[in-house]
Amino acid sequence: MATRRRGKRRPVSQSMAEVVERIGQQEWLDRPSYRLENVLSFGYNALGGARNRVTNLLNGVWLGHPVHPPLASLASGVLGTTVALDAYQGTVGRRDGSIDAAHLAQHALALGILANLGAAATGVTDWQHTHEADRRVGLVHGMLNLSATALYVWSWTQRRQGRQLRAAVGSGVGYAISLSSGYLGGHLVFASGIGMDQSGKRLETATWTPVLSQDALPENELHRTEVDGVGVVLCRTEEGVSAVAEFCPHLAAPMIDGWIDRGRIVCPWHGSQFDAQTGDVVRGPAAAPLPCYEARTRNGMIEVRGSGRDAAPAEACSVDELRSAGEICSGDEGMIA
Ligand code: FES
Repeated sequence: MATRRRGKRRPVSQSMAEVVERIGQQEWLDRPSYRLENVLSFGYNALGGARNRVTNLLNGVWLGHPVHPPLASLASGVLGTTVALDAYQGTVGRRDGSIDAAHLAQHALALGILANLGAAATGVTDWQHTHEADRRVGLVHGMLNLSATALYVWSWTQRRQGRQLRAAVGSGVGYAISLSSGYLGGHLVFASGIGMDQSGKRLETATWTPVLSQDALPENELHRTEVDGVGVVLCRTEEGVSAVAEFCPHLAAPMIDGWIDRGRIVCPWHGSQFDAQTGDVVRGPAAAPLPCYEARTRNGMIEVRGSGRDAAPAEACSVDELRSAGEICSGDEGMIA
């Protein structure tokens, strides 16, 4: 008896990964994406002195985390609610005594449109610093979201005119597009690490470790060293010596290739600026601070330690004493005070 051969089913995850990979290979997307980046740069630069304030707001410097994901989650939640309310209105909602789901759906849709616009503004600001395949996938993600938002706006106008069925179809199709786009957005975060802190392994060692003669580090110079297999970048400014992580939290640029400008360490790739003493972000696109370790000079040597939980309590000393000894415990002035 002839046996029927069954083809092996490909896992859905594999097919989805292939789609994303294909999108990432579409080099023809580079031309429009670089044009869009130029337009964005022109627009931000036209803000003059307010540029950094606006981009820091959109990048999420104030939050220590990109703003795009929570806004996208809000949009997805309320737009999903719109679709559910439309479904309710089309079935149960027709009966006497049921709630006015159509009215609620209209409000939810309006909130979803606003959240989508916020997600677009923050997302495009994050996207402009991506590269190659991630940039192409990000562009398609943005275009899909734009199409979905256009459908939501159309749906909202249909609701205003009392065309409930058309409005529901518009929102439903828009939401299906949003879900596909959300998959691409998830890929950018979970597979490529866009929006995640990429500063890498942290120095946990609680013991002070001598790493370099203090004479070997001139002012406004950077020097890379390693402590317990963890890369550390030493830096000397007029405020004193400090030690920071070796990779930028934005997209993992090697900070040793950066430079010091007015007490800030500048990332060599996209120009994020970090306070050299605390690692706080002064200017994005990085949203998370640059990990900063404790540093001091003892017997002519620069010593560094991490902030391991078993760290010994710091010796009591005043800020003035630390300064006069040429020693700064990075970011600790407030704690000491
Ligand atoms: S890698 Fe992008 S700002 Fe540092």
